[in-house]
Amino acid sequence: MKKIAVLASGRGSNFSAVIERIRDRTIPAVCVALITDNPDARAIDRATEAGIPSVVVDYRAYPDRKAYEVDLLAAIQATGADLIVLAGYMRILGDRIVNACAGRMINIHPALLPSFSGLHAQRQALEYGVRVAGCTVHFVDTGMDSGPIILQQCVPVLEGDDEEMLTERILREEHRILPEAVRLFCEDRLTISGRRVLVKQG
Ligand code: GRF
Repeated sequence: MKKIAVLASGRGSNFSAVIERIRDRTIPAVCVALITDNPDARAIDRATEAGIPSVVVDYRAYPDRKAYEVDLLAAIQATGADLIVLAGYMRILGDRIVNACAGRMINIHPALLPSFSGLHAQRQALEYGVRVAGCTVHFVDTGMDSGPIILQQCVPVLEGDDEEMLTERILREEHRILPEAVRLFCEDRLTISGRRVLVKQG
């Protein structure tokens, strides 16, 4: 059984989607920790309800980014997790952390990468005027939302959409593809080959 740790900064709906699929045994894993940078994250309540320990590494308590990242990496390593899932973790992770977790850290992003990386991806998509938006699960590398892509799902942009409506439509698909990517990882079915991720058929 693989161990997974989830990093989340806010609401934690993607975190919930993953632990739901663990609970119903779709994902052969145990979630060993929620790690957050935000002591007020709703994700903490979700972890508590699910009996998962949470660890707060509060950025504001550190004199600088380096000191924060030393403790964050220590917290990640202390979980003994095989897979680290970034599910709405709103801080950029430094190279030290990313390199220590290479090939076993994944992220969910609410756009069809490489379009619209960074913050407010759904707003960027609307402002650009694309007809098709979506979400991406990818391995994390030292760039911004730039690692090898595991899964993507597109959704239509409709005439009357505002940011909230598009965000909601994308979120429903995030809740499907993030647990699916976690499942593929936990079943040892993912291989990184250059920029591509090969998925072994089940
Ligand atoms: C999601 O849209 C995720 O793609 C983005 O941040 C949001 C987090 O939502 N990175 P939640 O905390 O999982 O509800």
